[in-house]
Amino acid sequence: MIVDQAERLRSIVYERMNQRRRVARVIAIGSGKGGCGKTNIALNLGLILSKNNKKVLICDADLNLANIDILLGIAPKFRFLDFIRGEVGIEDVLIEIRENLKLIPANSGVINFPKISAERLIQIIDEILNLEEKFDFILIDAPAGVSEEVIRLLGCSDDYILVVTPEPTSIMDAYAVIKLVYYQTGKSNVKLIVNNVNDSIDPSDIANRLSLVANKFLGVKINYIGSIPSDDVVPRSVMMQKPFVELFPRSKASIALNKIAIGLLSIYEVKEQTSFFGRLMKLCEP
Ligand SMILES: Nc1ncnc2c1ncn2[C@@H]1O[C@H](COP(=O)(O)OP(=O)(O)OP(=O)(O)O)[C@@H](O)[C@H]1O
Ligand SMILES: [Mg+2]
Repeated sequence: MIVDQAERLRSIVYERMNQRRRVARVIAIGSGKGGCGKTNIALNLGLILSKNNKKVLICDADLNLANIDILLGIAPKFRFLDFIRGEVGIEDVLIEIRENLKLIPANSGVINFPKISAERLIQIIDEILNLEEKFDFILIDAPAGVSEEVIRLLGCSDDYILVVTPEPTSIMDAYAVIKLVYYQTGKSNVKLIVNNVNDSIDPSDIANRLSLVANKFLGVKINYIGSIPSDDVVPRSVMMQKPFVELFPRSKASIALNKIAIGLLSIYEVKEQTSFFGRLMKLCEP
């Protein structure tokens, strides 16, 4: 690219990054401990929102261990890193899963993020900014754990939902995430889903306990948005590589997730705001 042209694109992109625009609401779904149900929730929640006439994009952000395409039984032609490397455009990577629902599949077994030039980075940001304007919701299936990337992703989202199971290890790890996100990004509100709940447990007890501690020691507000029972339709639909809300719409898990989705839709409002990716980029600046 000619230097002048590159400079111009850079300034246009930076201006757009900071502008308030009508952009998608970005919901990142995370957990401290792995295996809490994030990927199943992201996919099935995305489906419910799309059936409610919202344009939804699901991003598989587990760049090393992609999962969502496996849950759907599909074999993507291109994946996110093909776009990052500049081999294809972002539109080539998007897969239309259902009406109103698209997916950006991640790569599997890639350890190192590709090295890219400053010019390529600007092009990437430009394409991603365009994407933000095309959807109502962007759901990000974040990898488990407390890596710097995950903490930034959760902290820059409009909402981040933590998924916990009733196991004490899962609750402790969730608290670690809440603390790190708060310390590193200042984000002081979290949405909480308690997943895989059996009859002997009251999920609101778990939410209350976590809420009390987060509020007392960090001043972070936890908004408990619902629970999902332990339901064998979830592993069964994983085996069948089809989303459980489609295969078993009247199951306990589907009814519970529908309730959560309706709650999220009721607080959703179209408004102008700054770009999620813009916020993320700023946090990554040295
Ligand atoms: N409500 C539920 N009832 C029964 N099984 C469940 C439920 N939710 C999730 N599972 C099971 O838990 C396992 C992990 O689910 P999933 O892959 O969605 O978790 P994850 O948080 O994305 O994991 P990872 O951290 O590895 O990305 C799956 O085998 C799934 O079938
Ligand atoms: Mg997962």
